[in-house]
Amino acid sequence: MSVVLTEVLDRILTVTVNRPDKLNALNPEVMDALAAAFESARRDDAVGGVILTGAGEKAFIAGADITIFKMLTPFSARSFARRGQALMDAIETLGKPVIAAVNGFALGGGCEVALACTLRIASKNAKLGQPEVNLGVIPGYGGSQRLPRLVGKGRAFEILLTGDMISADEAHRIGLVNRIVEPADLLPASRELLKKILAKAPVAIHYVLDAVNAGLDMPFAAAEGHEATLFGLCVATEDMREGVSAFLEKRPAKFTGK
Ligand code: COA
Repeated sequence: MSVVLTEVLDRILTVTVNRPDKLNALNPEVMDALAAAFESARRDDAVGGVILTGAGEKAFIAGADITIFKMLTPFSARSFARRGQALMDAIETLGKPVIAAVNGFALGGGCEVALACTLRIASKNAKLGQPEVNLGVIPGYGGSQRLPRLVGKGRAFEILLTGDMISADEAHRIGLVNRIVEPADLLPASRELLKKILAKAPVAIHYVLDAVNAGLDMPFAAAEGHEATLFGLCVATEDMREGVSAFLEKRPAKFTGK
């Protein structure tokens, strides 16, 4: 059985990390399979967006596989972190919306995977955290950077410095997850949200992702320039003419992605 399962239905690719006996911990095989799944999602026009989740009822991803840590040297640990960061960057900059369906523990590298996704929906039983300090390390897959950008510096410091797990309710309260739902509703709610996004003008969706992701790394004035360029490009699309005409004619728009 593959350590990562993929299934495409109605333009939605569902990617399931499938190591439930190890709480879906990220070993090199899982990392390779995730990288391959996201690379194929990037290239495949039949995929409009992705839902990422974990197999079983207990864990989304309980972190990097800790058994590997004993073998790391300072040099190999740097490569380990850079490789993980490259995967998180690939998820974040896929150019298509990615929803993390957080179905249980999302710890360490698992929380970092969720942070790299566009949106996060958690089941009520989910627990999130960055427990690296309990092991004598710090996050290595971008968590020390994405977490403060998402929830603010003070809240991020508390999570990163205590290593405590927080409940889905608390994660929702601080904006670490967008929504919380009953466990049975997690995948249907994720699909519904993604379908809603995929019904909008595809080029505009792509540029929203780019404007936010690229813009956050730019000085404000440059980010505004980037936004204006993307706005201009949207005006060149058939979908912009269709969206505006549909509004004026009081009918639903039919977008084609052109
Ligand atoms: N790496 C490797 N194996 C892991 C793992 C990880 N990050 N997280 C869980 N596992 C394994 C356990 O070793 C155990 O394997 P075993 O059955 O062969 O002994 C199995 O998954 C089940 O985990 P277990 O600890 O028995 O479940 P639990 O319900 O008692 O505890 C957690 C759940 C999440 C609290 C606990 O597994 C944990 O703290 N995991 C590590 C989390 C972490 O620090 N992640 C960040 C890494 S940087």
